[in-house]
Amino acid sequence: MTTHLRKALRLGVNIDHIATVRQARYPGMLDSHNCEPDVLNAAAICMLAGAHGITVHLRADRRHIQDSDVYRLREKPEVRLNLEMGNTPEILAIALQIRPDEVCLVPETRAEITTEGGLAVAGNEWQLGETVARLRSAGIKVSMFIEPDLQQIEASAKIGAEIVELHTGAFANAHGPAQQHELDRIANAADVADQAGLQVNAGHGINYENVALIRSVPHLVDLNIGHSIVSRSLFFGLDAAVREMLGLMKAI
Ligand code: PXP
Repeated sequence: MTTHLRKALRLGVNIDHIATVRQARYPGMLDSHNCEPDVLNAAAICMLAGAHGITVHLRADRRHIQDSDVYRLREKPEVRLNLEMGNTPEILAIALQIRPDEVCLVPETRAEITTEGGLAVAGNEWQLGETVARLRSAGIKVSMFIEPDLQQIEASAKIGAEIVELHTGAFANAHGPAQQHELDRIANAADVADQAGLQVNAGHGINYENVALIRSVPHLVDLNIGHSIVSRSLFFGLDAAVREMLGLMKAI
């Protein structure tokens, strides 16, 4: 048996829900004082607790993260910024101006509560390929948020993405043998993506319990985690919630 030595997994904390709480009280009032909780403070706490980056999704409807959040986060060089976005001209223009370290292209519909499925890269290579090329020529690394599906991986590699973020939602929602099946699909997809020269990230629905299973997936580099960390932070604080997750990501 060969032992598989891997580099430590990196954590990107998705802080959209911090902005959700703020927007519940202060919609359209960001220029006034004391619009708490401030996503910049949240980002600082996460980074000081050892997170490797911050992820935010600037949605077309601006339901949580606002443009000013992204601009302010970008002014902090210590924050490795991963911007999730739908492939629309408006958000693309903002991304090209801000130049986050990474962009993760995601599907986006107005009716969803959170990103539901992976991006259909296969079949949309032309539109997505143009966006990937524009982002990459601005020096931004590009990731595709996709189902652990071989066709989507192949299409992502073909259009020049450097990273795939494998959607772990189906795994997170499954139990018992069905969950093992989903985990096997993710592991197989990770192998194929790695062979295609893609960096492999994962995200959606990862929590303090299922992260132990996710750790077994080969080739993973970044986990993007939001809901479970922000939820735990309500009871234990953000610093403790991030540290605990980092500890579980490291455990053998
Ligand atoms: N990765 C992507 C691309 C997402 O859209 C989300 C949800 O915003 C996450 C990761 C984080 O998912 P969760 O909040 O379930 O941890």
